[in-house]
Amino acid sequence: MILINENYLKLQASYLFSDIGKRVAAFQEAHPDQDIIKLGIGDVTRALPSVCIDALHKAVDEMAEDATFRGYGPEQGYAFLREKIAQVDFQARGAEVAADEVFVSDGAKCDSGNIQELFGQDVAIAVPDPVYPVYVDTNVMAGRTGTWQEGRYQGLTYLESTENNNFVPEPPEAKVDLIYLCFPNNPTGAAATKAQLKQWVDYAGENKALILFDAAYAAFIRDDSLPQSIYEIAGAREVAVEFRSFSKTAGFTGTRCAYTIVPKECMAYDSQGNAQPLHLLWNRRHATKFNGVSYPVQRAAEAVYSVAGQEQVKELSDYYLKNAALISSKMTELGYTWVGGVNSPYIWIKTGTDSWAFFDNLLNKAGVVCTPGSGFGKCGEGYIRLSAFNSHENVEKAMQRIENALK
Ligand code: MLT
Repeated sequence: MILINENYLKLQASYLFSDIGKRVAAFQEAHPDQDIIKLGIGDVTRALPSVCIDALHKAVDEMAEDATFRGYGPEQGYAFLREKIAQVDFQARGAEVAADEVFVSDGAKCDSGNIQELFGQDVAIAVPDPVYPVYVDTNVMAGRTGTWQEGRYQGLTYLESTENNNFVPEPPEAKVDLIYLCFPNNPTGAAATKAQLKQWVDYAGENKALILFDAAYAAFIRDDSLPQSIYEIAGAREVAVEFRSFSKTAGFTGTRCAYTIVPKECMAYDSQGNAQPLHLLWNRRHATKFNGVSYPVQRAAEAVYSVAGQEQVKELSDYYLKNAALISSKMTELGYTWVGGVNSPYIWIKTGTDSWAFFDNLLNKAGVVCTPGSGFGKCGEGYIRLSAFNSHENVEKAMQRIENALK
């Protein structure tokens, strides 16, 4: 008899965004004429930058000739891309990252979900609340949590991110081994300062813990005093892995390219207490389970680092940040308090009412999709998240509709 992994039975319903997708599809079926504006899932709407399109076309043409055709590439990514990433995203900002510490992949969601398999079954895990569900669900699937009780999984330490700490939690009193952090944060949009990240790096160093730092939204940081990478903090190379993505930076949600940094000094420990380099373990995993991102897509990602590419991706994030400003100012006008939206494409709005009821109300009365805050955790109850990923026209229309619906 084939048995299942019963940890899957502990999972709550479906993945948050699938759940929202189903509700929206049902609403659309019942109201076929309603034009729905989606400010829910953070999916980009604008075309790829022209430098990426040119690079894609050129690479596809190379694949059409035997002389320039490429088969399997290096699992870790082509050197042409890894070198640009290390130089432009890190070294140019004073963060020490070498090209061979970059692992190119098809998504930060996949990497941040997969990396947990490198760690022991009994590690103590801290996750933010509210939290990007992938960090939690992948550990539930792996059997590192107890059951779901009163809105939380037993066995996890939840780092409450609330108004009281400006949505940036401090290290816990308790000793934890594995810490998930995401800044600029999904879903709250809060950004951490260097001093705040330093506290976490020091905590991890003192406790032989590891930080999994999700910086998928780093491209939206406009305040120069804020760190874009955890490696801008002294000591982070020993205690942190960082995830980045071209999805929101360059419009690659449908094209798929991301990367993970695993510094060579970054250690985890075996049961004898011996330090083991995570770089070797992740490399082993990557080479065994992943065949690399396609050559044309890596060429398109490389184009992001040209002078024109840097201008074009800046223009893209500026465009979405302008939407974020529009949303925030409308929310202020309507009397709501909010965070995010400044160095982030997400605006976290306090509604003070049941999140799913607010979601249904917006969908029914305004035809606008948001993400209910409670879908990200207990601390998200009473909040919704609006995403700035849409056209200016749609965001303006959505704000007008929300104003009319909530009046
Ligand atoms: C979100 O809306 O939170 C993101 O789109 C999810 C993701 O990037 O996987």
